[in-house]
Amino acid sequence: MCGIVGVVGSADALPRIYDGLKRLEYRGYDSAGIAMAIPGAGVEVRKAQGKLSALADLLPGFPAGLTVGIGHTRWATHGRPTDLNAHPQVDCSGTLAAVHNGIIENWREVREELEAAGHRFRSETDTEVLLHLVEAYGGTRDLLPAVTRAVGRLTGAYAFLILSAAEPEHLIAVRRASPLVIGVGEHENYLGSDVSAFLPYTRRALVLNDGELAVVGKEDIALYRLEEERLVPLHREPFQVTWTVQQAERGGYPHFMLKEIMEQPEVWGDCLLGRTAAGAVRWEELGLDPAEAAGWPRIQMVAAGTAYHAGLLGRAWMEGLARVPVDVDLSSEFRYRQPLLQPGTPVWAISQSGETADTLASLRLARELGAPTYAVVNVVGSTIAREADRVAYTRAGPEIAVASTKAYTTQLLTLLLAALGLAGSRGRPRPDLVEELAALPRLGREFLPRASEWARARAGELAAARDVFFIGRGLDYALAMEGQLKLKEISYLHAEAYAAGELKHGTLALIEEGVPVIALATQPELVEKTASNIEEVQARGAQVWVIAGAGLAPHLPAAEVLSLPALPPLLAPFLAAPVLQLLAYWTAVVRGENVDQPRNLAKSVTVE
Ligand code: M6R
Repeated sequence: MCGIVGVVGSADALPRIYDGLKRLEYRGYDSAGIAMAIPGAGVEVRKAQGKLSALADLLPGFPAGLTVGIGHTRWATHGRPTDLNAHPQVDCSGTLAAVHNGIIENWREVREELEAAGHRFRSETDTEVLLHLVEAYGGTRDLLPAVTRAVGRLTGAYAFLILSAAEPEHLIAVRRASPLVIGVGEHENYLGSDVSAFLPYTRRALVLNDGELAVVGKEDIALYRLEEERLVPLHREPFQVTWTVQQAERGGYPHFMLKEIMEQPEVWGDCLLGRTAAGAVRWEELGLDPAEAAGWPRIQMVAAGTAYHAGLLGRAWMEGLARVPVDVDLSSEFRYRQPLLQPGTPVWAISQSGETADTLASLRLARELGAPTYAVVNVVGSTIAREADRVAYTRAGPEIAVASTKAYTTQLLTLLLAALGLAGSRGRPRPDLVEELAALPRLGREFLPRASEWARARAGELAAARDVFFIGRGLDYALAMEGQLKLKEISYLHAEAYAAGELKHGTLALIEEGVPVIALATQPELVEKTASNIEEVQARGAQVWVIAGAGLAPHLPAAEVLSLPALPPLLAPFLAAPVLQLLAYWTAVVRGENVDQPRNLAKSVTVE
């Protein structure tokens, strides 16, 4: 996730901005930049692809003693991680600079309109449209009304800081959906995408809420609510930040994994931004071409670990909704099994990092075989993203914990969007489901705290187990596979996933008194079948916990049940997956394991 820093002060601001960027490094980034107001000379920008050390080499070029500036660490979403795409971005005249977190949904159409009107864009970013819009609406001559009008044109999520050569003593901050906090100091004020950016300098903070704008000077902070194109003044008292620096980096959570689990509703919102309209999927926003997709006889997916489990759910959606046959292979198997691809079959590589050696090798093999390739990837500019013919980014933001959580559910969401797009183009539109996707972030926000308490209450028993079994049918079997991987990976317990109907073909022999069995029963058409499998294991003394779809509990034998909120059953994986992640998380915590960096595992597996 990108990081934002702003300083308006009497002291030398540049070292503080750079220090703030260092403090935001934990968020992950691929380029960084700083813009400073130079009294009498305008705005100057230094930016560089890569680590902050590359930016540091450019900073001696700034005059000493500058007091106002903005900084940014960028995690690419629109446009590759290059010097040009790094923030701050500037307008045509170079008198306005801005940094941005979030995703602007309607950037493409606004850019086309502005280019037609003669604006010169320098980057591939969605951010740049803001600056040219401000310029078009009056620019530095009448800055505040121009900014107000410009943000009114934008849809999507954003936190902006704007620095103007014409008003170099103030920064303008605007927030919609992406976090922004003001640090209140003595004769100096700060801005940050989170409080880590300024904690060493002040612990007094003001949160900017959605739809609010702030004009921040060194002695004054004016807050406004944006109402249409009107600014309504606001008053809010600062609060005292009590977090340690480490707590602040993790958003107050004890581990990155828990932070990443709990921020899933937000990243689902990011993943959906701009990708649906009027009950249909916008293909171009997924990097897909309907004309090309019309000729696909089937789809071959390749992936590893959690991404492979996402592929299994992707297959179920794709086949069920679009009736397109799909094969899913582990990439470490695909590359050596001399695959036979029917002509025209695209190979889809699914990968969080975009660097997994086996998945990359499978993609290269597919290209050698003449197959069209498509990547579902989180890291922009990664090797798989660069080498595939087409790419859809999952927009999960940087995932720091080794155990994949938000990257997994955004892979699911991207695959489901693709399945719905394909279904529509093959005469099987599901506008109802497309519309329902919009409710996922809200449902997740409401449900995850309850799910976390439920999982935490069971962690003590799980932590003491020797073996744990996960069972389910259909979509629930694919979820069960991910549930067992999560538990193994961070708690080091032996865990296995079984298709519930397979138990009696062998595995039932392992069920004995007290063995924990986590059953998934989210699909109404399969609930009666899964219920009898639950009875089978209960009869052998298993301790069963069930994650059930809304309204399905009465169909299940007496067992401890966590019911999901009401949502279409095909969307149940989005809420069931976090429960499995939370079970693994709390179990590892009880066992005292190193949750974020489990033994023997690396975040990105770039070797065979
Ligand atoms: O970066 P990728 O998605 O290609 O990584 C694939 C697997 O290595 C990864 O999902 C791994 O299984 C996770 N650590 C699981 O939590």
